[in-house]
Amino acid sequence: MKRIIQAAAAVALTLFCHACGKKVDSESQIREGEILVRASDCKTCHHVTNKIIGPSHTDVARKYEFTTANVKMLAERIIKGSSGVWGEIPMTAHPDLSQEDAEKMARYVLSLDGETEK
Ligand code: HEC
Repeated sequence: MKRIIQAAAAVALTLFCHACGKKVDSESQIREGEILVRASDCKTCHHVTNKIIGPSHTDVARKYEFTTANVKMLAERIIKGSSGVWGEIPMTAHPDLSQEDAEKMARYVLSLDGETEK
């Protein structure tokens, strides 16, 4: 009996730490992404809540679920550019961004509607 309780406690602890580790990681990536977005040219075309040339980043967050697959997909669009999703105006490519930094930016954008990464 004692063994079973110990085993169950170990499993619970592992699950808890796994979940908290992932959350902390995603949160720090979101913070770094915000700094990167502010330092980049994104603000010429994107406002957090208002549509300017591009859709507001909060509207982008509402359109897509905050999943790792969507983080990767949006990061690729930030690097390669995007057109035809929101209207006629295309987004310029950002070939100098690394996939890693673009994913941080995508995480920041996807967090803006209050969702956490799934
Ligand atoms: C020259 C203006 C411009 C700049 C600079 C720009 N964007 Fe965009 N962005 C747009 C437009 C326009 C769209 C909508 C494109 C479309 O309809 O496919 C867009 C779309 C997006 C989307 C949603 C893509 C989709 O498929 O739904 C994200 C995310 C995004 N931009 C992030 C960024 C980030 C991060 C930066 C800075 C590195 C940035 N943008 C810089 C104009 C811009």
